Amino acid sequence: MKLIILNQKGGVGKSTVATNMAYGLALSGKRTLLVDLDPQAHSTVIFCSDLPKTNTVSELLSKKSFKIGDAIQEAKIGDNEEPVKNLSIIPANIHLAITAEQITTKIHREKLLHNHLKKIENDFDFIIIDCPPSVNVLTVNAIYTSDLIIIPTIYGRYSLDGIADLFQSIEDVKETSDFKYMILRNNRDSRNKLSNEFVEEQLAPFKNNLLQTIIRRNEAINQTQMNNEPVMVFDPRSYGAEDFKKLTREIISYGS
Ligand SMILES: Nc1ncnc2c1ncn2[C@@H]1O[C@H](COP(=O)(O)OP(=O)(O)OP(=O)(O)O)[C@@H](O)[C@H]1O
Ligand SMILES: [Mg+2]
Repeated sequence: MKLIILNQKGGVGKSTVATNMAYGLALSGKRTLLVDLDPQAHSTVIFCSDLPKTNTVSELLSKKSFKIGDAIQEAKIGDNEEPVKNLSIIPANIHLAITAEQITTKIHREKLLHNHLKKIENDFDFIIIDCPPSVNVLTVNAIYTSDLIIIPTIYGRYSLDGIADLFQSIEDVKETSDFKYMILRNNRDSRNKLSNEFVEEQLAPFKNNLLQTIIRRNEAINQTQMNNEPVMVFDPRSYGAEDFKKLTREIISYGS
């Protein structure tokens, strides 16, 4: 099952969700592939101690003949580069920004990733794709190949602005309004009662597409970015670890 973590808004937790969910699924014994489709490479830095210069998602998207197996690397964490069982990654680096410009004019440009993934998708239970904060050729490739779209959102006044445009983009790529998506509520601070109520009200029309798990605001999650580790490794007893374990179970229930 191919899940993409999508929102054109920046800083809503896409990479946090992609990396921690991928780790959680792998820990649960699911064969998992994380694909970093963002030139910022925030997912890559968690699982590759050095940013790979070659054999990245850039080469994959720019060359039809490129063997996808050459871009799939074992995920590793920590200073001693401990391999993560069941988890592989197709990394990104900053060059992906240039690649994106170059492939924009190709025919069938929206199918480039899909055509590569087709060759290996049976080797994995879950393929998780981290998207950049924009609607461009990279996100279009992710949308085209996705089975389920996860849209993380945070608890802010303007969090849901632009969601109608996002749905329209998805509909244009999928050529149907009947696509599968789930909204994931992230970064909830129980002290902010009024803004929580405001956002919950705004989400009411989407009640059938809300993931039950809510990821609370948690300092351990924030720290993981600085330590380049999944939260379940950084602080297994944190709320963050607890919430991501719960989310993993919920995703597995959708995927099977
Ligand atoms: N539940 C949470 N609790 C605390 N901090 C969080 C939480 N979720 C995300 N963050 C922090 O918010 C920041 C943005 O998260 P992240 O990088 O995952 O967002 P993003 O949507 O991938 O951003 P971009 O659009 O730039 O790719 C990071 O510093 C991250 O550590
Ligand atoms: Mg990101």
